Amino acid sequence: MNAPCTPVPFHVAIIMDGNGRWAKRRGLPRLLGHRAGVHALERVVRAAPGLGITHLSVYAFSTENWQRPSTEILGLMSILRVYLKRKVRELKERDVRLLFCGTRAGLSPDVADLMAWAEEETSSNSLLTLIPCFNYGGRQEILDAVNALVAEGRSGPVDQEDIRRHLYLPDLPDPDLIIRTSGEQRLSNFWAWQGTYSELYFTDTLWPDFDGECLERAVQHFADRERRYGALA
Ligand code: FPP
Repeated sequence: MNAPCTPVPFHVAIIMDGNGRWAKRRGLPRLLGHRAGVHALERVVRAAPGLGITHLSVYAFSTENWQRPSTEILGLMSILRVYLKRKVRELKERDVRLLFCGTRAGLSPDVADLMAWAEEETSSNSLLTLIPCFNYGGRQEILDAVNALVAEGRSGPVDQEDIRRHLYLPDLPDPDLIIRTSGEQRLSNFWAWQGTYSELYFTDTLWPDFDGECLERAVQHFADRERRYGALA
């Protein structure tokens, strides 16, 4: 793999889409597509530090995903349990910190406990922060921030910093680059506040086929873009 490009997208966010189609093309149950998606995630976690990425967020379960059939929801919860029980040790060895983003409301207590345990176990790691957005929705996050301000008894106008301070992970840098796989070109309620200025990269590759080379192509694409933040060049 080449040396890191400049400028580097320090925070890369990924909408891991296409697991169901990947499975369907092979005549497999959807859940096997999600399992193959975990292997893709592992490849990307291994490749990210070499590209200069310091934060990697992945949309693993959205607040809208509760509308899926219960078998698929239970399957995704089970995939998360297995991943954490089996992989936290390896993540520690790789100096990867885990931080979950989303609301714990509605998750079964054992899943919430495992998430807290995994965060604690990896809390001193610093090479890469992996942020699985699980039970996450961008609009819900903004609503939760506003309601937290209301609960504090805030009266009068609030400003952007007030909202930011009440986001789920207020210290997380905004994503520089958002990747969506599988040919869809939507944000689907991902990083509604934080993604305003993110560069977007879409690829037809289905998530289970994504790997370090695909990530490198996305990073190179980012390096070629001019980032102006609404200003003139
Ligand atoms: C979208 O593909 C994918 C999801 C809703 C789930 C993604 C989850 C994983 C890859 C597992 C993550 C696990 C951990 C441990 C963080 P889709 O099912 O909507 O695909 P389709 O559009 O082809 O049907």
